[in-house]
Amino acid sequence: MITHVRSVSLGVPDMHAAREFYEKHWQLDLVGTDDDLVYLGAGCAENHVVRLRATPESRVDVLSFAAESPADVDAVAERVIRHPRAALVEEPGTATDPKDGHRLRFLDFEGRTVEVVAGAARREFRPVEPGEHRPVGISHVVLNTTDLIGASHFYGAVLGFRVSDWVEDVMCFLRTGSAHHVIAFTRAPHVSLNHVAFELRGVDEFMRASGAMRGRGFEPVWGPGRHGVGENTFTYFQDPSSRFILEYTSDMLRIEDEEHWTPQVYPANAQTSDQWGVGKARDELVSTLLRGTPDPGLWTPPPV
Ligand SMILES: [Fe+2]
Repeated sequence: MITHVRSVSLGVPDMHAAREFYEKHWQLDLVGTDDDLVYLGAGCAENHVVRLRATPESRVDVLSFAAESPADVDAVAERVIRHPRAALVEEPGTATDPKDGHRLRFLDFEGRTVEVVAGAARREFRPVEPGEHRPVGISHVVLNTTDLIGASHFYGAVLGFRVSDWVEDVMCFLRTGSAHHVIAFTRAPHVSLNHVAFELRGVDEFMRASGAMRGRGFEPVWGPGRHGVGENTFTYFQDPSSRFILEYTSDMLRIEDEEHWTPQVYPANAQTSDQWGVGKARDELVSTLLRGTPDPGLWTPPPV
């Protein structure tokens, strides 16, 4: 079984500016560098939650998911091989660095490079204390798709994700464990990253983190608020150099009673977007920024 999002690997055109943003402002920890790669960790045992690579344009390199066991990685490989819209990039077990664990890479139906890993090296980390507003790790990733139904089917068939809820025919939320969603898809005119969400310890730490970003001169793109679907808190910011949108979040709904959960279709309205309504409202600019631009990283797996 897939358990969670381990990390996102991003290509960034201005490494100096991106490092400053993620380390100094977004409060990730520098884990290490390797040629043109920078690894950033959070308050969790994952070696890194973000990998940056110097690229001519902003692009998503890899979405990395954790699997419970090497057998689970092999099972995904079987499903990738059989799926007409998936393409194997790297067979399980061929990663050269043992700290990468038992790893598989494939292209999804829209050309994103997806990784599934079991047994990767863990990292000594400093746990996030109460009141401290460093991210704990990655909560979820939202992706823009031109085929929303296809996305829900593909990720169900290949990674075993289950649909938690819909917003009309605009968004689909998928889970793997009890968290309401680890990944979601939004209907868009092109394929791109919508946003990456980082988990804060709780709502207090989430508000402190949001305030700290404002204090450093970063105005929220949207929020703070609490979503109607998934019930998680949200404040969205933009990394000015890469243009990627990042979210601070906390307190997501957990689906403990798996048997009795029935996906709902929510209306696309203000209450679904934000139960609180105290922060900056969602407007056309928010939608435009979350839509982003077509990802130049599709169908071209990164060299590392
Ligand atoms: Fe989100």
